[in-house]
Amino acid sequence: MNVSDSEVVARLLSDNGYRKCEHLEDARIIFVNTCSIRENAEKRVMGRLDLFARMKKKDPGLKVGVLGCMATRLREQLLAHPAVDWVVGPDSYRHLPGMLGSSVAAPMEVKLSLTETYADIKPFRGVNHGISAFVTIMRGCNNMCAYCIVPYVRGRERSRDPFSIIEEIRDLLSGGFREVTLLGQNVNSYCWTPDSDRDSCGFEPDQDDKTDHRTPENGQVPVTFAQLLERVAGISPMLRVRYTTSHPKDMQDDVLHAMAGHPNICKHIHLPVQSGSNNMLKKMNRRYTREEYLERIAAIRRILPGCTISSDMISGFCSETEEDHAQTLSLMEEVRFDQAYMFHYSQRPNTLAARHYKDDVPEDVKIRRLNEIIALQNRLSLASNWADVGKVFEVLVEGASKRSNDWFFGRTGTNKVCVFPKADSKVGESVHVRVTSCTAATLKGEIVNENQ
Ligand code: 5AD
Ligand code: SF4
Repeated sequence: MNVSDSEVVARLLSDNGYRKCEHLEDARIIFVNTCSIRENAEKRVMGRLDLFARMKKKDPGLKVGVLGCMATRLREQLLAHPAVDWVVGPDSYRHLPGMLGSSVAAPMEVKLSLTETYADIKPFRGVNHGISAFVTIMRGCNNMCAYCIVPYVRGRERSRDPFSIIEEIRDLLSGGFREVTLLGQNVNSYCWTPDSDRDSCGFEPDQDDKTDHRTPENGQVPVTFAQLLERVAGISPMLRVRYTTSHPKDMQDDVLHAMAGHPNICKHIHLPVQSGSNNMLKKMNRRYTREEYLERIAAIRRILPGCTISSDMISGFCSETEEDHAQTLSLMEEVRFDQAYMFHYSQRPNTLAARHYKDDVPEDVKIRRLNEIIALQNRLSLASNWADVGKVFEVLVEGASKRSNDWFFGRTGTNKVCVFPKADSKVGESVHVRVTSCTAATLKGEIVNENQ
């Protein structure tokens, strides 16, 4: 999300006479786009700001702006830091050009918006085009998971006008991109209607909305995520389509059928479970049970055989017992996730959990449980990768592999990183790769003829 937001900022600035540079030492202005999701993320930013403060001592003309979630959360506290000249929250980037050039503009803009989606801003993705791009389709979140700070720092959920999404993706395709990842905190609640229907989606009609609500060629207005996904996939069979993140309470079969009906929608779903214990899920305000989650997994397996599933897990949430933790491990075994992102609980100020529950699982217990979750996931990821050995996958070539210049890396539709000798393939091409071996993190293979 921050990569995507930084591309919006880069466009706003490059349209106003600023130029992006490659090396920190060459910059006259540095922006740091921040994340508040866990305390560690914030600590790293504070460390970076201390470094910038030292750089400013030697070079007083250097300027520094803090963008993103920490800007919303810490405001004046950040402005008081010796490194910081501007503090700009995620919905205020349009103010940036005016702020940079002016000594009278306020140095801080952090108000959250009910409507800002930057729909009309074409993200700046660098001079040399890439292969895979992020496309933000919605902003904010209305879910209020008890541990999560996102709704407070990124604001209410709002969906971006589908016409601008499709236009942006068409541009990407003609610019040489071959893959898009549609981004939202909870893509399954994507919902957009023309003005007349806005209320039915829970939107307040926006008096200032100047969006061009044309009727698309086929007369259908895409209002749901499944419809948007189908329209994006229909742009071209040359384009691979991914998306993230799904919420188990909102992921309906219509999305799974849309995926099944389009070979160019990658067969991978990121479906964060957070915990396997119903007690924890209730306390986390996730609004599904373990049984309901498993039913969604069964639907994926039924409608999309071969689809990989990844997840997020949190260890040591408030009052988590050994039995709750064991339930997380058993759910992982039951689902056999292909990949996972795993964290120990980090209390965030003002969240539901911080206000209502004690952060009472000792740090060493949180970490020990997290290590157990990681060890199990390593086994599951390795088993998932081993099951692919001998199979042939279509891989989009993304660039040179880190291990050797004679090797490329890319990802399978199932979202597994795959490395293979270049042969005569090129970046941006789709190649067929037979998997010959693997680690828990990577598939290794060789290019084969499509019919081999
Ligand atoms: N502590 C630990 N992990 C968190 N996440 C969100 N908030 C917290 C927190 N306070 C994790 C969740 C989410 C992922 C993006 O970050 O697992 O799915
Ligand atoms: Fe946070 Fe929950 Fe929203 Fe995800 S769905 S961003 S975890 S509040």
